Amino acid sequence: MRSFSAPLLSLLLISLLGVSASASPQVNRHTVRKGGDDDGGSSGSGIPTVASVKNPQCKPWVAVRDAIMGGIYHGRCGDPARASIRLAFHDAGPFSLALQAAGRPNGAADGSMLVDPNEVLRPENNGLQSIVSLLKPLPAKFNVSPGDVLHLAGVLGVLACPGGPVINTYIGRTAPKNIAPDGLLPNPNSPVKVLTDRFADMGFSIRELMALIGAHSTGKQRFVNTLVAPSSFDSTVDIWDVRFYSETQSSSVAPGTFKLNSDVNFSHNATTQKDYNRFVGNQDNWAREYAAAHEKMSLLGLNKNTLTDCTEILPQSINLKNLAVSSSKSGKSPTDPVIDPVKLEAAIQQYRSIWL
Ligand code: HEM
Ligand SMILES: *[C@@H]1O[C@H](CO)[C@@H](O)[C@H](O)[C@H]1NC(C)=O
Ligand SMILES: *[C@@H]1O[C@H](CO)[C@@H](O)[C@H](O)[C@H]1NC(C)=O
Repeated sequence: MRSFSAPLLSLLLISLLGVSASASPQVNRHTVRKGGDDDGGSSGSGIPTVASVKNPQCKPWVAVRDAIMGGIYHGRCGDPARASIRLAFHDAGPFSLALQAAGRPNGAADGSMLVDPNEVLRPENNGLQSIVSLLKPLPAKFNVSPGDVLHLAGVLGVLACPGGPVINTYIGRTAPKNIAPDGLLPNPNSPVKVLTDRFADMGFSIRELMALIGAHSTGKQRFVNTLVAPSSFDSTVDIWDVRFYSETQSSSVAPGTFKLNSDVNFSHNATTQKDYNRFVGNQDNWAREYAAAHEKMSLLGLNKNTLTDCTEILPQSINLKNLAVSSSKSGKSPTDPVIDPVKLEAAIQQYRSIWL
Protein backbone atom coordinates (compact mmCIF):
# COMPACT_ATOMS: atom_id res chain seq x y z
CA MET A 1 0.00 0.00 0.00
CA ARG A 2 2.38 2.67 -1.20
CA SER A 3 -0.36 4.77 -2.74
CA PHE A 4 -1.43 6.53 0.50
CA SER A 5 -1.57 10.26 0.02
CA ALA A 6 0.22 12.34 2.62
CA PRO A 7 -2.97 13.74 4.22
CA LEU A 8 -4.48 10.27 4.46
CA LEU A 9 -1.34 8.89 6.02
CA SER A 10 -1.23 11.58 8.69
CA LEU A 11 -4.92 11.03 9.40
CA LEU A 12 -4.19 7.34 9.91
CA LEU A 13 -1.26 8.15 12.19
CA ILE A 14 -3.31 10.55 14.26
CA SER A 15 -6.07 8.03 14.76
CA LEU A 16 -3.58 5.30 15.65
CA LEU A 17 -1.92 7.54 18.21
CA GLY A 18 -5.28 8.54 19.58
CA VAL A 19 -6.31 4.95 20.07
CA SER A 20 -3.07 3.88 21.75
CA ALA A 21 -3.09 6.87 24.10
CA SER A 22 -6.63 6.24 25.30
CA ALA A 23 -6.07 2.51 25.57
CA SER A 24 -3.04 2.90 27.80
CA PRO A 25 -3.57 5.40 30.60
CA GLN A 26 -0.45 4.01 32.28
CA VAL A 27 1.66 5.94 29.78
CA ASN A 28 0.45 8.97 31.62
CA ARG A 29 0.86 7.38 35.02
CA HIS A 30 4.41 6.36 34.25
CA THR A 31 5.37 9.99 33.68
CA VAL A 32 3.61 10.81 36.92
CA ARG A 33 5.64 8.32 38.95
CA LYS A 34 8.94 9.51 37.56
CA GLY A 35 8.12 13.17 37.76
CA GLY A 36 6.23 13.12 41.03
CA ASP A 37 3.56 15.49 39.79
CA ASP A 38 -0.16 15.22 40.10
CA ASP A 39 -1.72 13.22 37.29
CA GLY A 40 -4.78 15.45 37.25
CA GLY A 41 -7.03 12.40 37.69
CA SER A 42 -10.07 12.36 39.92
CA SER A 43 -8.18 11.54 43.10
CA GLY A 44 -4.82 12.93 41.97
CA SER A 45 -3.18 10.07 43.85
CA GLY A 46 -1.35 8.56 40.88
CA ILE A 47 -1.87 5.05 42.30
CA PRO A 48 -1.87 2.39 39.53
CA THR A 49 -5.09 0.40 39.15
CA VAL A 50 -5.83 -3.06 37.71
CA ALA A 51 -6.96 -1.27 34.54
CA SER A 52 -3.85 0.89 34.26
CA VAL A 53 -1.33 -1.90 34.93
CA LYS A 54 0.01 -3.14 31.57
CA ASN A 55 1.50 -6.56 32.22
CA PRO A 56 -1.30 -9.15 32.74
CA GLN A 57 0.96 -11.08 35.13
CA CYS A 58 1.19 -7.99 37.35
CA LYS A 59 -2.53 -7.14 37.45
CA PRO A 60 -3.36 -9.67 40.25
CA TRP A 61 -0.66 -8.03 42.38
CA VAL A 62 -2.67 -4.83 42.72
CA ALA A 63 -4.92 -6.67 45.22
CA VAL A 64 -1.93 -8.05 47.15
CA ARG A 65 -0.45 -4.55 47.21
CA ASP A 66 -3.67 -3.16 48.67
CA ALA A 67 -3.91 -5.95 51.28
CA ILE A 68 -0.45 -4.96 52.53
CA MET A 69 -0.42 -1.19 52.03
CA GLY A 70 -4.03 -0.75 53.17
CA GLY A 71 -4.88 -3.76 55.32
CA ILE A 72 -1.60 -3.84 57.23
CA TYR A 73 0.12 -0.43 56.92
CA HIS A 74 -2.96 1.78 56.52
CA GLY A 75 -0.83 3.82 54.14
CA ARG A 76 1.49 4.93 56.93
CA CYS A 77 5.13 4.67 58.00
CA GLY A 78 4.17 2.92 61.24
CA ASP A 79 5.47 -0.10 63.14
CA PRO A 80 4.26 -2.72 60.59
CA ALA A 81 5.98 -0.84 57.74
CA ARG A 82 9.31 -0.55 59.57
CA ALA A 83 9.12 -4.19 60.67
CA SER A 84 8.58 -5.27 57.04
CA ILE A 85 11.71 -3.46 55.90
CA ARG A 86 13.72 -5.29 58.54
CA LEU A 87 11.94 -8.54 57.68
CA ALA A 88 13.05 -8.23 54.04
CA PHE A 89 16.63 -7.98 55.26
CA HIS A 90 16.34 -10.87 57.74
CA ASP A 91 14.79 -13.11 55.09
CA ALA A 92 17.49 -12.41 52.48
CA GLY A 93 20.49 -11.70 54.77
CA PRO A 94 21.35 -15.36 55.53
CA PHE A 95 22.44 -15.73 51.90
CA SER A 96 26.14 -16.61 51.60
CA LEU A 97 28.34 -16.74 48.52
CA ALA A 98 30.67 -19.10 50.41
CA LEU A 99 27.85 -21.56 51.15
CA GLN A 100 26.68 -21.29 47.55
CA ALA A 101 30.17 -22.06 46.24
CA ALA A 102 30.36 -25.06 48.59
CA GLY A 103 26.96 -26.31 47.38
CA ARG A 104 25.67 -26.24 50.97
CA PRO A 105 22.12 -25.31 52.10
CA ASN A 106 21.86 -21.55 51.74
CA GLY A 107 19.60 -18.64 52.53
CA ALA A 108 17.89 -16.53 49.87
CA ALA A 109 15.27 -13.83 49.40
CA ASP A 110 12.78 -16.66 49.34
CA GLY A 111 10.22 -15.97 52.06
CA SER A 112 11.47 -18.72 54.39
CA MET A 113 10.67 -16.37 57.28
CA LEU A 114 6.96 -16.72 56.47
CA VAL A 115 7.13 -20.48 56.13
CA ASP A 116 9.45 -21.93 58.72
CA PRO A 117 8.01 -21.70 62.24
CA ASN A 118 11.46 -21.91 63.86
CA GLU A 119 13.36 -19.32 61.87
CA VAL A 120 11.20 -16.47 63.17
CA LEU A 121 11.79 -17.62 66.77
CA ARG A 122 15.56 -17.11 66.59
CA PRO A 123 16.67 -14.32 68.97
CA GLU A 124 17.99 -12.14 66.11
CA ASN A 125 14.46 -12.13 64.67
CA ASN A 126 12.91 -10.83 67.88
CA GLY A 127 10.35 -8.16 67.08
CA LEU A 128 9.46 -9.63 63.67
CA GLN A 129 6.88 -12.14 64.93
CA SER A 130 3.87 -9.86 64.62
CA ILE A 131 4.58 -8.70 61.04
CA VAL A 132 5.17 -12.35 60.15
CA SER A 133 1.74 -13.31 61.52
CA LEU A 134 0.12 -10.48 59.56
CA LEU A 135 1.76 -11.46 56.25
CA LYS A 136 1.56 -15.23 56.69
CA PRO A 137 -2.06 -15.69 55.46
CA LEU A 138 -1.51 -13.74 52.22
CA PRO A 139 0.27 -16.38 50.07
CA ALA A 140 -2.63 -18.84 50.50
CA LYS A 141 -5.25 -16.12 50.20
CA PHE A 142 -3.91 -14.86 46.85
CA ASN A 143 -2.33 -18.12 45.70
CA VAL A 144 1.12 -16.58 45.37
CA SER A 145 4.54 -17.42 46.82
CA PRO A 146 5.63 -16.34 50.32
CA GLY A 147 8.86 -14.87 48.93
CA ASP A 148 6.97 -12.57 46.58
CA VAL A 149 4.64 -11.41 49.36
CA LEU A 150 7.45 -10.81 51.83
CA HIS A 151 9.61 -8.84 49.41
CA LEU A 152 6.70 -6.82 48.04
CA ALA A 153 5.93 -5.97 51.68
CA GLY A 154 9.52 -4.73 52.13
CA VAL A 155 9.33 -2.47 49.09
CA LEU A 156 5.92 -1.14 50.17
CA GLY A 157 7.26 -0.56 53.69
CA VAL A 158 9.85 1.80 52.21
CA LEU A 159 7.20 3.55 50.06
CA ALA A 160 4.87 3.89 53.06
CA CYS A 161 7.56 6.09 54.57
CA PRO A 162 7.54 9.55 52.94
CA GLY A 163 10.82 10.05 51.08
CA GLY A 164 11.16 6.30 50.46
CA PRO A 165 12.11 5.59 46.82
CA VAL A 166 10.48 3.25 44.31
CA ILE A 167 12.45 -0.02 44.34
CA ASN A 168 12.23 -2.33 41.32
CA THR A 169 9.96 -5.19 42.28
CA TYR A 170 9.90 -8.72 40.90
CA ILE A 171 7.46 -11.59 41.24
CA GLY A 172 7.77 -15.27 40.43
CA ARG A 173 9.77 -16.65 43.37
CA THR A 174 9.18 -20.34 44.02
CA ALA A 175 8.63 -21.89 47.47
CA PRO A 176 11.69 -21.66 49.78
CA LYS A 177 14.04 -24.64 49.47
CA ASN A 178 15.29 -24.69 53.04
CA ILE A 179 15.29 -22.87 56.33
CA ALA A 180 17.91 -20.12 56.32
CA PRO A 181 21.23 -21.13 57.88
CA ASP A 182 21.65 -19.80 61.43
CA GLY A 183 24.17 -17.24 62.68
CA LEU A 184 24.55 -15.20 59.50
CA LEU A 185 22.62 -12.05 60.47
CA PRO A 186 24.80 -9.18 61.72
CA ASN A 187 25.27 -8.38 65.39
CA PRO A 188 25.38 -4.63 66.23
CA ASN A 189 28.31 -5.22 68.58
CA SER A 190 30.55 -6.96 66.06
CA PRO A 191 33.71 -5.20 64.87
CA VAL A 192 33.43 -3.26 61.59
CA LYS A 193 35.62 -5.82 59.81
CA VAL A 194 33.32 -8.72 60.77
CA LEU A 195 30.28 -6.81 59.47
CA THR A 196 31.83 -5.66 56.19
CA ASP A 197 33.07 -9.23 55.59
CA ARG A 198 29.60 -10.69 56.24
CA PHE A 199 28.01 -8.25 53.78
CA ALA A 200 30.74 -9.00 51.23
CA ASP A 201 29.76 -12.66 51.57
CA MET A 202 26.19 -11.61 50.72
CA GLY A 203 27.62 -9.84 47.65
CA PHE A 204 27.49 -6.26 48.93
CA SER A 205 30.23 -3.66 48.68
CA ILE A 206 30.94 -1.30 51.58
CA ARG A 207 29.21 1.46 49.62
CA GLU A 208 26.08 -0.67 49.25
CA LEU A 209 26.23 -1.56 52.95
CA MET A 210 26.45 2.13 53.88
CA ALA A 211 23.33 2.77 51.77
CA LEU A 212 21.45 -0.20 53.25
CA ILE A 213 21.99 0.69 56.91
CA GLY A 214 20.15 3.95 56.17
CA ALA A 215 17.02 1.80 56.50
CA HIS A 216 17.51 2.51 60.20
CA SER A 217 16.18 6.00 59.33
CA THR A 218 12.67 4.72 60.04
CA GLY A 219 13.68 2.06 62.57
CA LYS A 220 13.34 1.49 66.29
CA GLN A 221 15.19 -0.74 68.74
CA ARG A 222 13.33 -2.78 71.32
CA PHE A 223 15.79 -5.46 72.38
CA VAL A 224 19.30 -3.97 72.29
CA ASN A 225 18.61 -1.79 75.31
CA THR A 226 15.28 -2.72 76.84
CA LEU A 227 15.52 0.02 79.47
CA VAL A 228 15.01 2.73 76.83
CA ALA A 229 12.79 0.69 74.49
CA PRO A 230 11.31 1.53 72.16
CA SER A 231 13.65 4.21 70.88
CA SER A 232 14.20 5.34 67.31
CA PHE A 233 17.51 5.55 65.44
CA ASP A 234 16.92 9.18 64.47
CA SER A 235 14.64 12.04 65.48
CA THR A 236 12.42 11.67 62.38
CA VAL A 237 11.32 8.04 62.58
CA ASP A 238 8.23 8.56 60.38
CA ILE A 239 10.11 9.75 57.31
CA TRP A 240 12.71 8.18 55.05
CA ASP A 241 15.34 10.91 55.34
CA VAL A 242 19.12 11.15 55.74
CA ARG A 243 18.93 12.64 59.24
CA PHE A 244 19.91 9.15 60.49
CA TYR A 245 23.35 9.57 58.92
CA SER A 246 24.14 12.98 60.44
CA GLU A 247 22.70 12.23 63.87
CA THR A 248 24.49 8.86 64.13
CA GLN A 249 27.80 10.56 63.28
CA SER A 250 27.24 13.47 65.64
CA SER A 251 28.88 13.47 69.09
CA SER A 252 25.55 14.40 70.66
CA VAL A 253 22.44 12.23 70.99
CA ALA A 254 19.08 13.60 69.84
CA PRO A 255 16.41 13.24 72.55
CA GLY A 256 14.63 9.88 72.46
CA THR A 257 17.03 8.33 69.98
CA PHE A 258 19.39 5.38 70.29
CA LYS A 259 22.54 4.61 68.27
CA LEU A 260 23.69 1.11 67.41
CA ASN A 261 27.43 0.59 67.99
CA SER A 262 27.72 -0.79 64.47
CA ASP A 263 26.19 2.33 62.92
CA VAL A 264 28.38 4.65 65.01
CA ASN A 265 31.48 2.67 64.07
CA PHE A 266 30.59 2.81 60.35
CA SER A 267 30.26 6.58 60.59
CA HIS A 268 33.82 7.01 61.91
CA ASN A 269 35.85 4.04 60.69
CA ALA A 270 38.52 5.04 58.16
CA THR A 271 37.48 2.29 55.74
CA THR A 272 33.73 2.95 55.75
CA GLN A 273 33.50 6.69 56.45
CA LYS A 274 33.99 7.89 52.89
CA ASP A 275 31.05 5.86 51.60
CA TYR A 276 29.04 6.70 54.72
CA ASN A 277 29.58 10.41 54.07
CA ARG A 278 28.07 10.16 50.58
CA PHE A 279 24.71 10.04 52.30
CA VAL A 280 25.16 12.66 55.02
CA GLY A 281 22.88 15.52 53.95
CA ASN A 282 22.37 13.97 50.51
CA GLN A 283 18.88 12.52 50.09
CA ASP A 284 19.27 12.09 46.31
CA ASN A 285 22.43 9.98 46.57
CA TRP A 286 20.85 7.89 49.25
CA ALA A 287 17.45 7.33 47.62
CA ARG A 288 19.11 6.24 44.37
CA GLU A 289 21.76 3.98 45.89
CA TYR A 290 19.44 2.53 48.54
CA ALA A 291 16.89 1.58 45.88
CA ALA A 292 19.54 -0.27 43.86
CA ALA A 293 20.95 -2.05 46.92
CA HIS A 294 17.51 -3.04 48.24
CA GLU A 295 16.58 -4.42 44.82
CA LYS A 296 19.75 -6.53 44.91
CA MET A 297 18.89 -7.67 48.45
CA SER A 298 15.42 -8.76 47.33
CA LEU A 299 17.02 -10.99 44.69
CA LEU A 300 19.76 -12.69 46.75
CA GLY A 301 20.07 -16.34 45.79
CA LEU A 302 17.59 -15.93 42.93
CA ASN A 303 17.86 -15.63 39.17
CA LYS A 304 16.37 -12.32 38.08
CA ASN A 305 15.81 -13.67 34.55
CA THR A 306 13.22 -16.13 35.85
CA LEU A 307 11.20 -13.34 37.49
CA THR A 308 8.72 -10.74 36.19
CA ASP A 309 9.20 -7.02 36.76
CA CYS A 310 6.02 -5.68 38.41
CA THR A 311 7.41 -2.31 39.49
CA GLU A 312 4.48 -0.74 37.63
CA ILE A 313 2.05 -1.69 40.45
CA LEU A 314 3.81 0.57 42.96
CA PRO A 315 2.60 4.00 44.02
CA GLN A 316 4.87 6.95 43.40
CA SER A 317 7.44 8.02 45.93
CA ILE A 318 6.52 11.00 48.12
CA ASN A 319 9.20 13.61 47.50
CA LEU A 320 10.39 15.28 50.71
CA LYS A 321 11.75 18.26 48.79
CA ASN A 322 8.22 19.56 48.34
CA LEU A 323 7.49 19.25 52.05
CA ALA A 324 10.31 21.20 53.69
CA VAL A 325 9.62 24.21 55.90
CA SER A 326 10.39 27.18 53.72
CA SER A 327 13.51 28.78 55.10
CA SER A 328 13.55 32.57 55.37
CA LYS A 329 17.30 32.74 55.92
CA SER A 330 19.54 33.15 52.93
CA GLY A 331 22.82 31.26 52.60
CA LYS A 332 23.47 27.58 52.32
CA SER A 333 20.64 25.14 52.89
CA PRO A 334 20.67 23.08 56.09
CA THR A 335 22.15 19.57 56.06
CA ASP A 336 18.80 18.12 57.06
CA PRO A 337 15.78 20.12 55.94
CA VAL A 338 12.95 20.37 58.46
CA ILE A 339 9.74 18.82 57.19
CA ASP A 340 6.50 20.75 57.67
CA PRO A 341 4.05 18.38 59.43
CA VAL A 342 1.04 19.97 57.71
CA LYS A 343 2.52 19.58 54.23
CA LEU A 344 3.62 16.04 55.14
CA GLU A 345 0.11 15.01 56.18
CA ALA A 346 -1.38 16.64 53.07
CA ALA A 347 0.99 14.61 50.86
CA ILE A 348 0.07 11.38 52.68
CA GLN A 349 -3.63 12.21 52.27
CA GLN A 350 -3.11 12.83 48.55
CA TYR A 351 -0.72 10.08 47.46
CA ARG A 352 -1.73 7.29 49.85
CA SER A 353 -5.45 8.14 49.93
CA ILE A 354 -6.99 4.76 49.11
CA TRP A 355 -5.17 2.99 51.94
CA LEU A 356 -5.69 5.37 54.87
C1 HEM B 1 25.39 -4.03 60.01
C2 HEM B 1 24.18 -4.30 59.65
C3 HEM B 1 22.99 -4.24 60.57
C4 HEM B 1 22.91 -4.42 61.91
C5 HEM B 1 24.03 -4.75 62.88
C6 HEM B 1 21.53 -4.20 62.28
C7 HEM B 1 21.03 -4.31 63.56
C8 HEM B 1 19.76 -3.94 63.95
C9 HEM B 1 19.27 -3.98 65.29
C10 HEM B 1 20.06 -4.45 66.50
C11 HEM B 1 18.00 -3.50 65.29
C12 HEM B 1 17.07 -3.30 66.48
C13 HEM B 1 16.25 -4.54 66.76
C14 HEM B 1 15.46 -4.34 68.02
O1 HEM B 1 16.07 -4.24 69.10
O2 HEM B 1 14.22 -4.25 67.95
C15 HEM B 1 17.68 -3.16 63.92
C16 HEM B 1 16.48 -2.66 63.52
C17 HEM B 1 16.16 -2.43 62.19
N1 HEM B 1 16.94 -2.75 61.11
FE1 HEM B 1 18.89 -3.26 61.14
N2 HEM B 1 20.82 -3.89 61.18
C18 HEM B 1 21.66 -3.92 60.10
C19 HEM B 1 21.31 -3.74 58.78
C20 HEM B 1 20.03 -3.51 58.35
C21 HEM B 1 19.63 -3.54 56.95
C22 HEM B 1 20.54 -3.89 55.79
C23 HEM B 1 18.30 -3.24 56.93
C24 HEM B 1 17.36 -3.13 55.76
C25 HEM B 1 17.72 -2.81 54.56
C26 HEM B 1 17.88 -3.00 58.29
C27 HEM B 1 16.63 -2.60 58.68
C28 HEM B 1 16.23 -2.41 59.98
C29 HEM B 1 14.97 -1.81 60.36
C30 HEM B 1 13.90 -1.26 59.41
C31 HEM B 1 14.92 -1.84 61.75
C32 HEM B 1 13.78 -1.33 62.62
C33 HEM B 1 12.76 -2.41 62.87
C34 HEM B 1 11.58 -1.90 63.66
O3 HEM B 1 11.53 -0.73 64.02
O4 HEM B 1 10.68 -2.71 63.92
N3 HEM B 1 18.97 -3.20 59.13
N4 HEM B 1 18.76 -3.46 63.13
C1 LIG C 1 32.59 -0.35 67.83
O1 LIG C 1 31.98 0.49 68.76
C2 LIG C 1 32.07 0.06 70.10
C3 LIG C 1 31.31 1.02 70.96
O2 LIG C 1 31.41 2.33 70.52
C4 LIG C 1 33.52 -0.09 70.51
O3 LIG C 1 33.60 -0.55 71.84
C5 LIG C 1 34.20 -1.06 69.58
O4 LIG C 1 35.55 -1.16 69.88
C6 LIG C 1 34.01 -0.68 68.14
N1 LIG C 1 34.57 -1.71 67.32
C7 LIG C 1 35.20 -1.52 66.17
C8 LIG C 1 35.88 -2.68 65.57
O5 LIG C 1 35.22 -0.45 65.61
C1 LIG D 1 37.81 -0.09 60.29
O1 LIG D 1 37.34 -1.06 59.39
C2 LIG D 1 38.36 -1.85 58.83
C3 LIG D 1 37.77 -2.68 57.70
O2 LIG D 1 36.61 -3.32 58.04
C4 LIG D 1 39.02 -2.65 59.91
O3 LIG D 1 40.03 -3.48 59.37
C5 LIG D 1 39.61 -1.71 60.96
O4 LIG D 1 40.11 -2.42 62.04
C6 LIG D 1 38.56 -0.72 61.44
N1 LIG D 1 39.20 0.30 62.26
C7 LIG D 1 38.90 0.49 63.53
C8 LIG D 1 39.61 1.61 64.22
O5 LIG D 1 38.08 -0.16 64.12
